[in-house]
Amino acid sequence: MEDKIRNILKDSLVKIKGAKIKSELNDLRILLFGKKGQFTLLTKELKNLAEEEKKKLGQLLNEVKEEIEKELQKNLVRLEEKKESEWVDVTAPGKKPQIGHLHPVTWAIREIVPIFEKLGFTRVSYPEVELDYYAFEALNMPRDHPARDEWETFFITDNIVLTPHTSSGQVREMEKGNLPIKMLNIAKCYRRQADVSHTPMFHQFEGLYVDKNVSIPHLFGTLDYFVKEFFGPERKVRLRPFHFQFTEPSFETDVSCGVCEGKGCKLCKEGWLELGGAGMVHPKVLKFGKIDPAKYSGFAFGWGVERVYMMKEGLKIPDLRILYENDIRFLEQF
Ligand code: FA5
Repeated sequence: MEDKIRNILKDSLVKIKGAKIKSELNDLRILLFGKKGQFTLLTKELKNLAEEEKKKLGQLLNEVKEEIEKELQKNLVRLEEKKESEWVDVTAPGKKPQIGHLHPVTWAIREIVPIFEKLGFTRVSYPEVELDYYAFEALNMPRDHPARDEWETFFITDNIVLTPHTSSGQVREMEKGNLPIKMLNIAKCYRRQADVSHTPMFHQFEGLYVDKNVSIPHLFGTLDYFVKEFFGPERKVRLRPFHFQFTEPSFETDVSCGVCEGKGCKLCKEGWLELGGAGMVHPKVLKFGKIDPAKYSGFAFGWGVERVYMMKEGLKIPDLRILYENDIRFLEQF
């Protein structure tokens, strides 16, 4: 019993000295001297001992109790003083938590959407994991057609692909059966490409307008309006003949360079920067969408979000891949 008492003393002194707040001392006091506390129980045990032992251990118990009480008191004062010395300046300005911002590509999308909304286009979205049918076949690219090679596609199965372009939304939109169509499809696209101007995942925005008597000037006017709103009123758009299986005629679309204003410089070489593809919807595609090409016509265009964002004046990103490397030193610059 003597060992037990001395151990309690040793243990209690360590705990008391290590206390960081007053409630720890109060808890300890209850544990030692409370109704069911260690000391209370030991005092009860004394009764069963022989007279001499009882006297000796009783005295020890009292001495230990006194020592613990003294230490408790001393440390109560210590914690009281510590509290008073902790001074809080309530008028000091708070520490601002670091908050991030949206990714530049999200910003670009948020700039692009309202420009087309003003022209009556409605934003839609379609699957990223897409049927081969919508990505290729319904766009007049049957299986084994060499034009498919351009899209360097990731295949999930023979019939399912990661959509390589937003044009896969064209026939899906037509199938809804609501005419006229004025859709803006913005989505992630995937291709087996990675170099300074290509990333395996990128974003495209695709416009599709189908109505009676839609013609090339409608396409040109829409793209010119976008270019002037997005890049600035002095910028011009240019259509260059090209070939896509799903548009006829087809164009590559260029915007005049913001650095040399179309004269030709290091950045653009010839005064124009390529933005993406466009054209008048091929009659076969309209038929796949259950639309009569004798009554309706339409235009479509598909541009890269990253590409147009990079071409915005003042933004000279030397390598497109850096947008998705999640390097905070790069992203912080926006
Ligand atoms: C197409 O994808 C056609 N679907 C565009 C189209 C739509 C034509 C409607 C006619 C009618 P293209 O493969 O050229 O076309 O891609 C269009 C744009 O997407 C490119 O100019 C480029 O800006 C962007 N792009 C394509 N591949 C990548 C890539 N790997 N990384 C970043 N941007 C890309």
